[in-house]
Amino acid sequence: MKSFIKLASLLFLLPILTFAAEVEVLHFWTSAGESRALVEIKKAVQSKGHQWMDFAVDGGGGENARAVLTQRVATGSAPIAAQMKGTEIRSWAERGMLANLDKLALAENWDTILPPSIGSQMKYNGHYVAVPVNVHRLNWLWVNLEVLKASGVQEVPTTLDDFFLALDKIKKAGYIALAHGSQPWQDTVLFESVVLSVGGPEFYRRAFVDLNESVLTSATMQRAFALFRKLRNYTDSRSPGRDWNLTTALVIRGKAGMQIMGDWAKGEFIAANMQAGKQYACVPSPGTQGSFSYTVDAFAMFKVKKADQLKAQEAFAKSLLETKVQQKFNQIKGSIPVRVDISADGFDTCAQASMRDFSDAGKNGRQLPSVATHMAMPLDKLTNVYEVVSEFWNDGQLSPLKASQLLAEAVK
Ligand code: GAL
Repeated sequence: MKSFIKLASLLFLLPILTFAAEVEVLHFWTSAGESRALVEIKKAVQSKGHQWMDFAVDGGGGENARAVLTQRVATGSAPIAAQMKGTEIRSWAERGMLANLDKLALAENWDTILPPSIGSQMKYNGHYVAVPVNVHRLNWLWVNLEVLKASGVQEVPTTLDDFFLALDKIKKAGYIALAHGSQPWQDTVLFESVVLSVGGPEFYRRAFVDLNESVLTSATMQRAFALFRKLRNYTDSRSPGRDWNLTTALVIRGKAGMQIMGDWAKGEFIAANMQAGKQYACVPSPGTQGSFSYTVDAFAMFKVKKADQLKAQEAFAKSLLETKVQQKFNQIKGSIPVRVDISADGFDTCAQASMRDFSDAGKNGRQLPSVATHMAMPLDKLTNVYEVVSEFWNDGQLSPLKASQLLAEAVK
């Protein structure tokens, strides 16, 4: 009898064993919050009987990961899937490298559960080639409430004027007033928030989506450059080259008062066991209330041949949008679910605010693709924008007028 049961259990396991394959995913989630959130996706893949092969490339913002992916594809060893954004998905799809996910998309109702604007970014020529996992918001201000109090700042700033007054007080009290890691992508995160604040959502859209030359060289853009440079007075000498998460750690540890950064920063506060609304606050970056500058993390699926790899790839793609993964991953990552049917229960006050603001911004045409994180323009133009913005941040001689002209050139 015993041997019969043994045989039966082996037979039961057989389908899983034959189809169990490695899911090798290339990504750049290596900070405390990012890696903890990723565990939720790994667990879902492993629960389907597949092995997770982690291919993490260090370097926030993903510049290094993009270079490594290009290298791997060039040498014929593309991963099963790679983390990437809207504009990059198109460039890989144009090269015919991405798998057609329509069968799974149909079975899982992606057209219904995804916001149409995001679903369309996952398609090329009408076919799904990538799967989104979240919606991050860029225009957030992170505030250490104890530092604010110790500096005599009564209210979390909501306007740019109040922001500069608070920065002055925090600096005078001896803290790093503005935590900023000066790397190209981070400089543009800060810059795009100032442009949104000074010019408003329509100005932002005409500048960075329409690439309108007169808007890019306008007096408003020059004012944004001037205010962007003014922020430099509130950063610290170790800002150049510092990674975003090490910069967020300054706010977490109470060395710095505030940081303007996407809400992956919240993943670091969570990893440090800090409570939103108690030790820290999250508010829309000053002057940008009502607008939602967004970035969507997605995984593009590279074409695979073997049946077991196809099964593993499908298991990974399916896992990303499962309700439980959408809840647990996003609660830890700091983003909000990309599925439209996930309730706000179990999410903290920052995430609940983000869900509300995303929905309201959607109704008012104020959801804006982030420039800094590859949502608004193709990589070649974005790289030029990074250069102009960082050159302006580092070279005090460059005038706002000249910078605005270089910006218009950069996106031609
Ligand atoms: C963004 C990405 C986030 C976070 C951040 C810092 O581009 O969307 O998920 O990882 O980079 O690395």
